Amino acid sequence: MRIQTDFLVLGSGIAGLTFAIKAARAHTNRKILVLTKTVEGESNTRYAQGGVAAVWDHEKDTFGKHVEDTLDAGDGLCRRDIVEIVVEEGPERVQELIDWGARFDKEKNSDNYDLAREGGHSEHRILHYKDLTGWEMQRSLMEEAKRYPNIEVLEHYFALDIITQHHLGRMVIRVTPDIECYGCYALNKQNGEIDTLLSRVTVVCTGGTGQVYKSTTNPVIATGDGIAMTYRAKGRVENMEFVQFHPTSLYNPAGENPSFLVSEAVRGFGGILKTAEGGEFMHHYDERLSLAPRDIVARAIDSEMKKRGTDCMYLDCRHLDKEGFMAHFPTIYEKCLGLGIDPMKDMIPVVPACHYMCGGILVDEHGRSSIHRMYAAGECSSTGLHGANRLASNSLLEAMVFAHRIFLDTQDKIDHWSFQENVPDWNAEGTTDPKEMVLITQSIKELKEIMSYYVGIVRSNVRLKRALDRLYLLFQETEELYKTTTISPQLMELRNLITIAYLITRSATHRRESRGLHYTTDYPGKLAFEEFSVL
Ligand code: FAD
Ligand code: SIN
Repeated sequence: MRIQTDFLVLGSGIAGLTFAIKAARAHTNRKILVLTKTVEGESNTRYAQGGVAAVWDHEKDTFGKHVEDTLDAGDGLCRRDIVEIVVEEGPERVQELIDWGARFDKEKNSDNYDLAREGGHSEHRILHYKDLTGWEMQRSLMEEAKRYPNIEVLEHYFALDIITQHHLGRMVIRVTPDIECYGCYALNKQNGEIDTLLSRVTVVCTGGTGQVYKSTTNPVIATGDGIAMTYRAKGRVENMEFVQFHPTSLYNPAGENPSFLVSEAVRGFGGILKTAEGGEFMHHYDERLSLAPRDIVARAIDSEMKKRGTDCMYLDCRHLDKEGFMAHFPTIYEKCLGLGIDPMKDMIPVVPACHYMCGGILVDEHGRSSIHRMYAAGECSSTGLHGANRLASNSLLEAMVFAHRIFLDTQDKIDHWSFQENVPDWNAEGTTDPKEMVLITQSIKELKEIMSYYVGIVRSNVRLKRALDRLYLLFQETEELYKTTTISPQLMELRNLITIAYLITRSATHRRESRGLHYTTDYPGKLAFEEFSVL
C-alpha cells in the first residue's frame, strides 16, 4: 500500500504526540500520521516516575540555577545555548500540558505544586504525579490527540527505513550535503505487508536504546530504531558513548525485563544508599552523597558491588514517614511488597541498570537533523542539552521543548515541500520466512551480554576491542540473514540493536578520556578542551 501524509511522525511518546497535537491544531486541513510499533500508550514516556524538571517557584529557584545544574551534570559537553533554551522555554511547555489535562501533585491544602528534588538539582523543581508521572503525561497527551480528527495513529506499524535519494538509485554517502527524506517504509505487523509512506516532512520520535543491555529500565520497544535508521540513511549521529545507567533499579534475583525503577525521587525524599551491613558509603565518592549526579552514584554502586562481590547495594527508607512515602511512591511500595520487601522495615536492594541514551540523531536548535525534511525529538535526538550526562527529569522537558520548536520551524515550510512520487515500493524478492527464529533470539541475547560485560559502566581498551570484534561477527551473520529472510520486527530490532551497539562501542573507543557517563580505566582523567578538540 502507498500512503501519503503531510506530517509523518514516528513514535507516540511525549515527543511524537506533543508535535502531532501542535501540528494538527495549526493545520486543520493537513494530515498527521503517527506510527507506533505496538500500542499508542506503550513508550518510555509511560514509565517515567520522578517527573519533569521546571523552574516553578521563582522565589527560591531561578533559570540560572537550573542551567548551572544541567551544565554541571553534563560535565563540560552541554551546549549552553541549548540548555538556556530548554530551561527557559520549559515551564511554558509544562503549563501547556497542564492545560491539556495533565495532573501534577500539589502540596497538602494548597494550590502550590509539590516540587520534588532529584540528584544533581540544587533546588526542589520536579513536578510529578505520585510515582506515575509518565503514565499521567502519556494519558493526557493521548486524550488531547483524540480531539483532532486530522491525527491518525497507526498502531502495530514498524518503521523500517528512512526513504532518501538512495531509494531513487542515487549514491548517498555520509558527506552527501543534500540528503532528503521522502518518508519511510513500514511493516504493517497485522498483515505482514510493507507499506510505502510518503510525507512532506518526517519527525523521528522513536525513543531510547536501553534494550541493547541485559538489564535496563526501558520497555522492550526501546531498541534504538530511529537512530539506527538515521545512521543507515547516512544521517549524523553523535555522543553515543554516553549511556546513562540509573543507579537504583530494583534488584530482582529472578531477573525482569524491563527492570523495575526505584525513582531517584526516593533519594530526594530522604532515602539513603547503604551496604548490606547498613553502613553509608557515598561520602567516599561525593559530598552530595546519595543525591550526587547519576554517573557518580552509579559508578559508586558498581565499584562497591565489585569490591564486596555482591549482587546489589541497598536503599534505606526505614526512617521515612510511612504515610508520606506511600502517598509519593505507591507503585514502588506495592512492587516491593510483591517481592516480599517492606520498604518501611527492610532496605530495598538496588542495582544500576541502563536507563537513558544521552546521544542520538544530531539536531540543531530547531530539531533539524542533517537530512533535509527530517527532524528528530525526544530521547532519539542529540540536541546538546545533556552533554556527557543527563540531569534527572530533564528528558521529558527537552522532548516537549523540541517538539514545539520543530512545530514552529515546519509551520511555513510545509507549504513548500511536496511528495516524491517516484519512490519505488519495497522489494522483498528472494526472501523467505525464517526457518529458525533461534538465530535471531540467540543473537539478541549474545548482543546484550557483549554490551553488558564489555561496554558497561566501566570500560577499557581491551574490553571495547573485544566487543567490537564480537559485534562484527554478529553483524555479518545478521546481514546474511537479512538478505534472505522475510522482514519481521524481531529481525529488524536485532539489526538496529547491532547498529546501536556498534555506535556506542565505536564512540567509546574514540573517546580517550573519562568524562560524565563514559569511564575507562585506560584514560581515567579528563582531556583539556584543546587536547579534546584535536581528536
Ligand atoms: P518514547 O516515549 O520512548 O516513545 C517512543 C515511541 O516510538 C513509542 O511509541 C514506540 O512505539 C515508537 N517506536 C520506536 N521504534 C519504532 C519503530 N521502528 N516504528 C514505529 N514506532 C516506533 N525522564 C524524565 O525526564 N523524568 C523521569 O521521571 C523519567 N523517568 C523514567 C523512568 C523510566 C523507567 C524510564 C525508562 C525513563 C524515564 N525517563 C524520565 C526518560 C523519559 O521517560 C524518556 O526519555 C522519554 O519519555 C522519551 O520520550 P520519547 O517521546 O522520546 O520516546
Ligand atoms: C527517576 O525517577 O529516577 C527517573 C528520572 C529520570 O530518568 O529523569
